[in-house]
This record gives sequence, structure tokens and C-alpha cells, in this order.
Amino acid sequence: MSYGIVTVAYIGATILFILALGGLSRQETSRRGNYSGMIGMAIALLATVIGIVSANYFILFLTVVIGGSIGLILARRVQMTQMPELVAILHSLVGLAAVLVGYANFMDHQRMLVGIEKTIHDSETYLGILIGALTFSGSVIAFLKLSARISGKPLLLPARHWLNLAMLLGTVVLGGQFIKYSAIGGGTVPLVLMTVIALLFGVHMVMAIGGADMPVVVSMLNSYSGWAAAATGFMLNNDLLIVVGALVGSSGAILSYIMCRAMNRRFLAVIAGGFGTSAGTAGADAEDEAGAVVAIEAVEAAELLLNAKEVMIIPGYGMAVAQAQHIVYEITRKLRENNTNIRFDIHPVAGRMPGHMNVLLAEANVPYDIVFELDEINEDFPQIDVSVVIGANDIVNPAAQEVPDSPIAGMPVLECWKGKVTIVLKRSMATGYAGVANPLFYKENTRMLFGDARESLDAVLKHLE
Ligand code: TAP
Repeated sequence: MSYGIVTVAYIGATILFILALGGLSRQETSRRGNYSGMIGMAIALLATVIGIVSANYFILFLTVVIGGSIGLILARRVQMTQMPELVAILHSLVGLAAVLVGYANFMDHQRMLVGIEKTIHDSETYLGILIGALTFSGSVIAFLKLSARISGKPLLLPARHWLNLAMLLGTVVLGGQFIKYSAIGGGTVPLVLMTVIALLFGVHMVMAIGGADMPVVVSMLNSYSGWAAAATGFMLNNDLLIVVGALVGSSGAILSYIMCRAMNRRFLAVIAGGFGTSAGTAGADAEDEAGAVVAIEAVEAAELLLNAKEVMIIPGYGMAVAQAQHIVYEITRKLRENNTNIRFDIHPVAGRMPGHMNVLLAEANVPYDIVFELDEINEDFPQIDVSVVIGANDIVNPAAQEVPDSPIAGMPVLECWKGKVTIVLKRSMATGYAGVANPLFYKENTRMLFGDARESLDAVLKHLE
């Protein structure tokens, strides 16, 4: 394929990727956005394979078939609740690819570069491996934390900031050494040492971040994986990879900013770690002050809903675990027939990945125009007759406002307790992801409906009917 056609295909793919990002920013257009992304990626792959790679098609297609089959099988098997882990591990693969391409690039002596060209090439290789290695190890730790294989508690080493600074300085010094020795045919030792430091840095960075701040980590690693892909693009002289990497990198950075705003945190403070360290005794205090919780049965919940004019549904991670979204839709339909004004309030960090709740509600055909975001609707709670909290915990925790030393202090939360009654559906009194006890459960106007969310809602629907 001629170079001109490849360039045109790349421009077409780039436009489709931009359309994909635009489409994905709104629920109504997200399906179209996904299709644009898929077509763009198909064009990009075809143009790259046919137009640029020429040696050994057999190995290329064999690896594509093997890799593609593994991806297909894993993606079909994965449960909706495991999606965040899948995303984290996919980010790690982008990082690993950048490291491998970087080393291949370093060992490829066919290019015979000299002078400034050699320095630029070496800098690209060094940066690519650096970003790739920390994306790889950071994403593996995020995967382990999100899948609860290791504790979500922040690991706070003494003098951790000094440690980070030392590692940063180490990579700068080693970078200088690498470029110096690579010019005379060496450079392996500084490159390997930097790779080890970058891997350790990725582990330390994510280990130091507490449970409630994981959303920032997820979006930050998303951004890093984009920059790792862009660095790979520089190493391979592939313009499309540079553009796509930059798109992913910058959109991930914007998402991290949005997540930080949602958590009311400063980005640098989150990266430095240390949130989520205080004991979080809010629940125990609340229990002492307010006594026991009030548990109700499904029939009472149904009665409360039937008598309500204004209902707010607050979904959380437990709705995903229980796969209760379809039954939520049935209840919504039933109540709307009863002329109840029913709305959904989505917290930006509800669930375990950005947009988690929106995806589930869209899957269950909940109309988009009754789904709102925290800042659009939080002030309406005083007018709400019944709020139904479905498997949510941290995002409705008043400790964020009431307990100054709470690990989630300052995080914006859905203020459902300001309404007339709140029904909380969960299985036990266990804490949420951040491990912080929740005084909401002990409030006078809170009713606890214990059990699996889907089973509880099933029973509520039967009574509504
Ligand atoms: P959580 O605070 O994790 O609370 C979920 C609650 O659901 C739990 O308390 C659990 O209580 C309940 N639950 C679990 N399975 C259930 C089932 N089958 N039926 C009924 N209830 C069930 O969730 P949230 O309120 O959505 O908050 C999200 C948290 O995750 C935040 O701390 C956020 O920072 C963090 N996080 C978010 C992201 C993103 S990007 N969204 C990424 C990583 C971490 P029981 O065990 O008692 O049932």
C-alpha cells in the first residue's frame, strides 16, 4: 500500500477516534462513539499491517490470532463487576508493550544513528521505557487492589516523599548516563537500573493511595497508558500511535481532574498518598449517640414508595454486585405509572469505574432524562419523600461532612439524609470500599432493608404489584 493511502487511512482513523471521544462524553451518543472507535481501530490496524509491516506476515498473523483469541475469551467471561480490574490489567499490558518495544528499539543497531538524532532516539527510548514500566507495575497493583487480592489500605512507608524524590532524581541521573554511554555502544546498565526504579515507583505510588482515592488512580493510570502508547509511537515512528496515545493520555488527565474534583482532593496530594489513614470512628460514635438501626421488611418499603410523590434512587457498587439494575427498571416503570416523580442520582465515583452506574442503568433501559449527576440534583433532597440507596455506602456517607478527621472528609456526598425517609438496601452493616463506618444507617429517618439488593427489590416489586 502506498505511503499516501496509509496517511489518508491514519487521518481517517484519527477523526474517528476524536468522534469516539466526543460520542462517549454523553450517554445518548455513547453507543455511536463506541462504533466510531471500533471502525477507527479496524482501519488503523489494517493500514498499519498492510502498509508498514512487511517482514514475516506469518508470525504477525499467528500472534494476532493467539492474542485476539485470548482477549475475546477473557472479555466474554468477565463479569460486569470485574470490569474495573479488566481495565487495570489492560493498562498494564500497554505499559509492558512500551517497555518491550523500548528494549527492542535499544537493541536494534541497524539504524546507525549519530549525533543529535541518536540523542533524540535514545531519549524517546528511555522515556518510553520509564513511562511504560511505571504504568505496568502501577496497573498490576491497581488490579490486585480492585480485585481485593491485596488490601486497599494505603501503605505509608516512613519518609515516603523522600523516597519518591530519590527515585525521581535517580532516573534523571541515570538518563544522563544512558545517553552518554549509548553514544559509544553501551548504556545497558543505566537502562536496566532505571527500569527497576520505575517498576518500584509504580508499585509504591499505587500502594500509598487509600481506598477512597482509587478512582483517581484508575483514571491516572488510564492517562499514563496513553502516554506510554504515544512514547511507543515515537519509538516506532508511527504517527497514528502518537496521536491516539496523546488523545488517551490527555483525556485520561482530564478524567483524573474530574475525579479529583469529585473527591475534593488535589491531584498532587492524592499521588503523594496518605489519605485514608485516620481511624474513621464515625460509625461507632454515631451508634453510641443514636442507638440501633431501624430495619424494615420489603412490604414496608413498598408502602413507603407507594405513598411517595418524589423518589430518588441512589445506585452504588452493591447494585452491580447484585445485578439489580433490571429489577430497578421494573420498579421505576411501576412507580411512574403511579405518577410518582422518580429520578436517579449518580455520584461520579459510584461503583468501581467511571460511568459504572450509567452503563448498568443504560443496559436496563432506564431513560436517560431521569438520570442526574450529583451537582445537578444534590440540593433537591429536602423535597424528596423517599430516597432508595441500592448497595451504596461511601457516596452517601455523612461522615464526609460531619467528621473532620474522617478519611473521606471533604468528599462531596449525596445528601439523602436531608429528605423525609431514606431506605438503605445492603446485606449487613459492613463498611464500603473506603472502610469508613457510615452514620447514615443510624439516622432517625433511615430504614435498613437488609439482604441481597436483587432479592429485596424483587420482593418490593411483588408488593407494589
Ligand atoms: P461502596 O462504598 O463500596 O459500598 C458498596 C456497598 O454495597 C457495601 O457497603 C455492601 O454492603 C453493599 N453490597 C455489596 N453487595 C451487595 C449486594 N449483593 N446486595 C446489596 N448490597 C450489597 O460503594 P459506593 O457507595 O458505590 O462507593 C464507591 C467506592 O468505591 C468509593 O469509595 C470510591 O472511591 C471507590 N472506588 C470507585 C472507583 C470508581 S472510578 N468509581 C474506583 C475504585 C474505587 P454489604 O456488604 O453490607 O452488603
